[in-house]
Amino acid sequence: MIVTKTDLKGRITYANEKFLNICVFQEEDILDEPHNIIRHPDMPKAVFRLLWDTLKRGEEFFGVIKNMCSDGSFYWVFANITPSFDENNMVIGYFSVRRFANKELINIMSHLYQKMMQEEKRHNNDKSAIEASIKILTDVINEQGVSYNEYLISLA
Ligand SMILES: Cc1cc2nc3c(=O)[nH]c(=O)nc-3n(C[C@H](O)[C@H](O)[C@H](O)COP(=O)(O)O)c2cc1C
Repeated sequence: MIVTKTDLKGRITYANEKFLNICVFQEEDILDEPHNIIRHPDMPKAVFRLLWDTLKRGEEFFGVIKNMCSDGSFYWVFANITPSFDENNMVIGYFSVRRFANKELINIMSHLYQKMMQEEKRHNNDKSAIEASIKILTDVINEQGVSYNEYLISLA
């Protein structure tokens, strides 16, 4: 499992050995850095909007994410990101556990993400871009008659 934790703003507070090895980072390079340090430009903005909206509701998020390593290489993961709560049930940070995505999942999601990116560009990345991009994703999911999380879990 590839694990990181963040504070409420998405700054990395913990990364396991596996994460450091895969991303080709030293621990001191990434601690306190925003998690978008490994953001890949092929990822649609809409996916991260969904991620943060879900976390802000106190719910868990599943996602297929293409990440970029410090040497410019990339890898795809199936990620489960959850809020961490303290003893008073207050959210104190976030926690991501990922494993490598299988080929079929990468194939399906990379095509979908390409369409979402095209839509975001077509809207000049303006306010309506993310909504239009999310619609592409939800249309596919609605066709299956399941929720977003159910859809991803079924594929993974
Ligand atoms: C616990 C946690 C784990 C995250 N993991 C990743 C990740 O593996 N890759 C990534 O690109 N963004 C990840 N994010 C989302 C980033 O915080 C950020 O929203 C995203 O990279 C988009 O960056 P941008 O809004 O600056 O474009 C994670 C966020 C949290 C809270």
